[in-house]
Amino acid sequence: MYKAAVLTVSDRSFRGQRPDGAGPLVSALLEDAGYQVAETAVVPDEQPDIEAALVRLADRAALVVTAGGTGFSPRDVTPEATAAVCERMAPGIPEAMRAASLAVTPRAMLSRAAAGIRGGTLIINLPGSPKAARENLEAVLPALGHGLDMLLGGPGDCAPGEPG
Ligand code: MTE
Repeated sequence: MYKAAVLTVSDRSFRGQRPDGAGPLVSALLEDAGYQVAETAVVPDEQPDIEAALVRLADRAALVVTAGGTGFSPRDVTPEATAAVCERMAPGIPEAMRAASLAVTPRAMLSRAAAGIRGGTLIINLPGSPKAARENLEAVLPALGHGLDMLLGGPGDCAPGEPG
């Protein structure tokens, strides 16, 4: 069972002006999928705060999922913070999320969400609304376990049953 952490990025939730809807939903979806959610946190849309939280959570979990701060508003900097703390990006994950989400709404193209690898941790951005966070996470969740197995040296067979 892999450990996960959930980071909500929202000025209003950080200030207590809006309940954190996406964070608890993402935690529940991850637990349903077999992850142990070891830690959750809420930070404002400030790049240094997001980076510090990502570094801390990545030391404690194999999977860190963020919610919020991926759009076009001037304060949306979660993808930039994610790229700053990752050594290698994993563009296929946000590509898959946006492809699936475009079937739901054309506004899916407005998500600048990123995903990347920091050491032995996969970091994935989700949009901030609970509905969007769920739709994006559900699009990629089935493939994540295999990615973490490869990252952490577990069974790495991408095509079980196929020769060579
Ligand atoms: N993806 C899905 N599946 N469903 C949605 O409703 N909303 C979009 C997009 N992705 C949406 C979605 C919108 S309107 C925005 S602005 C971006 O996600 C970024 O959201 P964020 O600023 O809350 O991170």
